[in-house]
Amino acid sequence: MECIEAILTRRSCRKFKSQEVESEKIKTMLECAIFSPSPANKQPWDFIVATNPDYNHLLKEASDEAKKKLVERSGWKWMPKFKIDFITEAPVLIVVIGDPTRNGAEQFLDVPSQGYQQACSAAIQNMLLAAHSQGLSTLWLSLFEKSDVRRIFNISQDKDPIAIICVGYPDVIGDAPPRKGLETKVTYLD
Ligand SMILES: Cc1cc2nc3c(=O)[nH]c(=O)nc-3n(C[C@H](O)[C@H](O)[C@H](O)COP(=O)(O)O)c2cc1C
Repeated sequence: MECIEAILTRRSCRKFKSQEVESEKIKTMLECAIFSPSPANKQPWDFIVATNPDYNHLLKEASDEAKKKLVERSGWKWMPKFKIDFITEAPVLIVVIGDPTRNGAEQFLDVPSQGYQQACSAAIQNMLLAAHSQGLSTLWLSLFEKSDVRRIFNISQDKDPIAIICVGYPDVIGDAPPRKGLETKVTYLD
């Protein structure tokens, strides 16, 4: 699949088939992840690939708790009806773990930004696109307390569980949520 086509046609998937995912395809996703840019090439990421459904169930429990908080705190009317069963259905979970000590030049500036988070996000996007170009679908999940994910996946306190990527073959893929036009987002300075 051509790169721009992959970018424009990738969709978040919230309904996966139970079909097993080939480990070679997951490996390709991970190889694409580690070729992402990172500040000073610090490569501030680690990955856990979980295929034992016990992890899906534990994560679903944690996300249900997080969802309750969101319902209470956000006021988002659609939230109570938002189903998160895809967490139990996804055949593969990839936990993306950032290392907050591995930043680049930006850490020494007056207002330091957290380069490790930006690099992990780049790695995630590369994985999503690599999955899509191999016929897989993904969901970038952030609906969890980091403490729960540390407990479930045995991640130490000094590491930052950035996101969990649900991976599988798509059963249903929704339409692209609308985007605001470039004219509202871009300023050209000639
Ligand atoms: C940082 C981040 C966190 C996200 N967390 C969640 C999540 O917890 N649950 C979920 O269903 N989707 C999550 N998403 C997916 C977005 O809802 C989705 O990307 C957005 O609605 C646009 O749809 P598309 O991915 O199909 O283009 C997340 C996306 C990003 C970038």
